[in-house]
Amino acid sequence: MINHSSKIIVTGGLGFIGSHTVVELQSKGFEIVVVDDLSNSSIEVLDGIKKITKKNIVFENIDLKNHNLVEDFFNRHKDVDGVIHFAASKAVGESVKIPLEYYENNISSLVNVLKELQKLNKPINFIFSSSCTVYGQAERLPITEKESIKKAESPYGNTKQICEEIIIDTAKSNKNLNAISLRYFNPIGAHESAEIGELPLGVPQNLVPFITQAGAGIRSELTVFGNDYPTSDGTCIRDFIHVVDLAKAHIAALNRLLNKNHGSNYEFYNIGTGKGSSVLEVIKSFEKISKIKLNYKIGPRRIGDIISAYADTSKANNKLKWNSELSLDQAMKSAWKWQQKISK
Ligand code: UD1
Repeated sequence: MINHSSKIIVTGGLGFIGSHTVVELQSKGFEIVVVDDLSNSSIEVLDGIKKITKKNIVFENIDLKNHNLVEDFFNRHKDVDGVIHFAASKAVGESVKIPLEYYENNISSLVNVLKELQKLNKPINFIFSSSCTVYGQAERLPITEKESIKKAESPYGNTKQICEEIIIDTAKSNKNLNAISLRYFNPIGAHESAEIGELPLGVPQNLVPFITQAGAGIRSELTVFGNDYPTSDGTCIRDFIHVVDLAKAHIAALNRLLNKNHGSNYEFYNIGTGKGSSVLEVIKSFEKISKIKLNYKIGPRRIGDIISAYADTSKANNKLKWNSELSLDQAMKSAWKWQQKISK
């Protein structure tokens, strides 16, 4: 049976996906401790979460690279039942410029947390934020979990691959560790209340925050990176998943582990909608829901972009009993509502 009073630690819990997952966990009655170093998030996100859930949140500002701090933290939280590990740096371009910071942050944080969990010497459930970036340009679409892992295009992507391998090796040697990696496709959108959402630092590199900022007049023009790809309208295709659907996938994965329904003590799942949308379709969706004519031009291809990626979600549907429910239009509507709120 699911024990809803299970104590779950959410690292990076004030980030984009983390904060939406905290909301879902709290609404299901889990006891939460949020850990975040605020390196790419804001303390105000706590207020946003509280406004939605009307519950108090235990929050600790901890840099997980610091092993002593992690040790002290877990000494005070020995009654933990599960960890959802979001804490990581995530900007692809930045990771190319400062690879050592990415390797140090993303890998040492994970290692420190796993070391302390091992010391607790009791069964622990662990969910890891991975990415569809591990597949590169897949041979077959939609992408199943059987697809081979490609050499990473960026240090960021490589940290996701290395972290998955670290968890696999640890799960082999430590049978107390029950772990699931969730390979996210492209998370977009915001909570329908517009109390929490994505907070990109500087000029957004991802499509949807750039679109909403252009819609709000913060950016003068959107450049579509290439319209000569071998796709229906020439632009790239991605699987854009509403962040609330993605947050719910974490609850499903956690419940699978808490209920001991898992097959082996390491599993991995693709988390997307199963539907590919082109860059131009995303722009059209934004124009429809906002009634704004977006100022965009077609530019050259962006180096490193893959042509097309969308998930086969059957494994997650069958084993996690999870399905995405929200449409691209709903995601764009929530992203736009959030953008309008923060640009006021
Ligand atoms: C990127 C990362 C991926 C990460 C994901 C998180 C790269 C190469 N990959 O994926 O590792 O997990 O974000 O969300 O950066 N686009 C434009 N104009 C823009 C911005 C984007 O046309 O101003 C296009 C891109 O060329 C791409 C699509 O929109 O075809 C989606 O881009 P983006 O949101 O950056 O996501 P990914 O590249 O799929």
